[in-house]
Amino acid sequence: MSVHVPSAGLAEREFELREYLPSEASDDFKQLLLKELPRFYDEVDESFPDSILSNAGSGRDPFGYFTTGKQIFASYIDGQCAGFTVVTMKRGGSAKIGPTAVFPEFRRRGVATRLRDAVEAKLFQEYGVRKIYMTVSTLNGPALMFNLKRGFQTEGVLREQYREGGDEIVLGALNPRHTARSRYAADALTPSFTAGGSDQAALWHDPSLDELEAFLAPRMEPYFDGIERGFYESIIAACQESRQRYDQKGKRLVVSRADGELTAAAVYVPKRGGSVKLSPCIADSEAAARTLIDTCVSLARSEGRRKIYVHLPDAMLEFASLLGSMGFAVEAQMREAYKPGMNMLVLGQVLA
Ligand SMILES: CC(C)(COP(=O)(O)OP(=O)(O)OC[C@H]1O[C@@H](n2cnc3c(N)ncnc32)[C@H](O)[C@@H]1OP(=O)(O)O)[C@@H](O)C(=O)NCCC(=O)NCCS
Repeated sequence: MSVHVPSAGLAEREFELREYLPSEASDDFKQLLLKELPRFYDEVDESFPDSILSNAGSGRDPFGYFTTGKQIFASYIDGQCAGFTVVTMKRGGSAKIGPTAVFPEFRRRGVATRLRDAVEAKLFQEYGVRKIYMTVSTLNGPALMFNLKRGFQTEGVLREQYREGGDEIVLGALNPRHTARSRYAADALTPSFTAGGSDQAALWHDPSLDELEAFLAPRMEPYFDGIERGFYESIIAACQESRQRYDQKGKRLVVSRADGELTAAAVYVPKRGGSVKLSPCIADSEAAARTLIDTCVSLARSEGRRKIYVHLPDAMLEFASLLGSMGFAVEAQMREAYKPGMNMLVLGQVLA
């Protein structure tokens, strides 16, 4: 598929946006990413561009849970490929954009600007996404300057996210056609912990789809859009032993129980570069939350993970405050990440 975009800053040269298919120029794409990204990120090997290419080729991400699909867009100048951007579609109406990369001989000539103008317009106007966001290394001056100039706003700084000593800035832009809801829309939904006490947490080795969905669905529904049975199926599938690799997006389930009943659950996701993400992370009581988090932190330490971080609706004030008392700090507030009006906190702890 290709879309012609009228030329502006590139003067009389012909600019063309193509939805990039894996069979074309995939070696160029791989080489560019493998040259640029390891400057800022650890554990980026061939499996990283390979999995983007195969997901973009199939139109869906077979290993994603919040991710529903990936696309690659390329800019061609007078028929020559000049750069790429990856787009990752998320449940709840957001899209993650990046990496965006331009071949060195084409830089500072407006190529990335033209590419992202066209792709962002497509996402906002044609696909109707509510929000575009990304993370950029604080060490990557050109990418930061480029995206700030485009009007993206800083939503936080993720400490040592993908590498020891390397922080990531979260940048976001809401669709100008959508009216942002007041963040106080969350007020009516602010849940309080119930009483609890006898909770015990452990890895859930043989998770039941029905039990997981029955616990998480009503508790996620106020804060996340677009979550249906396929979301829970993808979590259970990712817990298989054979999936415990980055390119297969392996995950684990850690749960708390009291008298046999689920009282808390976290999806534990190892990330390239040594962090672990907990998302979703839901608990009914302080006791259930505390034992859940303690168990996840112990697991992360036993696996030699450098950092653990949690995605938590900012309406969950008691849970956020508990995490604060357990050594986590707020690193970002992602505006309206998974549902209009619902912001998501990122709380992180760098493990010694
Ligand atoms: C970031 C990148 C995509 C920019 O591509 P580009 O085609 O050179 O960008 P443009 O020419 O459209 O630049 C637009 C504006 O961004 C800013 N910018 C771009 N490169 C910059 C740099 N090296 N230093 C400072 N500002 C820069 C400038 O404001 C520029 O406008 P100007 O040239 O009128 O001053 C490119 O540098 C690149 O491919 N970097 C390596 C890959 C990478 O790290 N990607 C991000 C990974 S998350």
